[in-house]
Amino acid sequence: MPKFVATTSRGLVDVLEEELKELGVKVTDKGPSSVDFEGSWAACYRINLCSRIASRILYSVLDFTAYNQDEFYNNFKKHDFTKYIDVDQTMLVEASVKNCCFKDQRLLAMKTKDAVVDQFWAKYDRRPDVDHESAALRVYVRGNKNNYNVSIDTTGESLFKRGYRSDPREAPLKEHIAAGILAIAGYKGDISVVDPMCGSGTILIEAALWARQIAPGTMRKKFVCQKLKNFQADAWDEEVNKAIEQEVTELPVKFYGFDINGRAVRAAKANAKAAGVEDMIEFVRRDVVEFTPPCPRGLIVTNPPYGVRIGGDEYELQDTYKNLAHSLKANFKGWTAWILAGNKELTPALRLKASGRFQVFNGPIECRFLKYELK
Ligand SMILES: C[S@@+](CC[C@H](N)C(=O)[O-])C[C@H]1O[C@@H](n2cnc3c(N)ncnc32)[C@H](O)[C@@H]1O
Repeated sequence: MPKFVATTSRGLVDVLEEELKELGVKVTDKGPSSVDFEGSWAACYRINLCSRIASRILYSVLDFTAYNQDEFYNNFKKHDFTKYIDVDQTMLVEASVKNCCFKDQRLLAMKTKDAVVDQFWAKYDRRPDVDHESAALRVYVRGNKNNYNVSIDTTGESLFKRGYRSDPREAPLKEHIAAGILAIAGYKGDISVVDPMCGSGTILIEAALWARQIAPGTMRKKFVCQKLKNFQADAWDEEVNKAIEQEVTELPVKFYGFDINGRAVRAAKANAKAAGVEDMIEFVRRDVVEFTPPCPRGLIVTNPPYGVRIGGDEYELQDTYKNLAHSLKANFKGWTAWILAGNKELTPALRLKASGRFQVFNGPIECRFLKYELK
């Protein structure tokens, strides 16, 4: 049975594991930012198409220990890499290394590239070119304490790049993180979601796509596994058709986004339109001071400014946090609010007691995802 690794952001591994199980694969292991699983190639295609929380799916081909570079080379050549592409296609190697005989990742990447290229020389008397943009064969090699894992990328551009983002300037949350925190909040696509500081709308667009059961991968269509010689076009088409068939058109729930910044609201509307969910989300320019329930019940999920990426000084932001908390306490009794807080200096300004807390990394920023039951 082929072995795969699904990568994600730190803090989202447990919800990714659940999602992979629901998508019908056998999970075999977990790391801080990855979940290993076994399944058919059809399952790999399904996960590329349907996962909301994974960022990349790697096909794992080699695991070995090597204490010097010759040992690495000899172990590496046990796998035939010429079976994945024609010599006229292109390749790329990405490496990461920690406590190994290779002193840095560039050296490991170079040795790996040489080992792949030698296989082509031996077979065809020619070699594939390296291509940093759109290589067909993307080999990932990770070395840790002389243990190496070699895998082949099946995804290409990261899965969070759904293709609906029009203006990335508003410090948006990556799409898979938005979906991941919704999963942590227990969202199943069946309740209205409200975001009082919605920025470019990522949380609400992901919630709406989920509610409509739109598989994110069906929106972008291009994956690097389609360029590999072992690509199974029939299995791929079947998975695409199954993913499209499960889409829901009529929905009883709506989604509501507010933001003080008019440009953010315009970007959110454009993104929702590009994602095909603009009829399900209402975006309105509004200060959080005036935040009142737009519907009888729902889930509040929001990602207030951090004071790191947006600029703005923290003193000013303390008032924003106080205003958010005041609106929640005054107007949302009986609701649950989840706040992705990227700045621990600011959360005390909320003066609310969290009943749940999760650590989630938004890129390099360590965030807390906090649950507040409003009484
Ligand atoms: C970190 S960004 C949200 C990013 C969003 N999750 C996305 O994916 O694009 C925080 C947002 O809070 C908004 N904001 C700041 N102060 C606000 C206030 N007083 N009322 C409403 N929104 C506010 C900012 O305009 C910004 O768009």
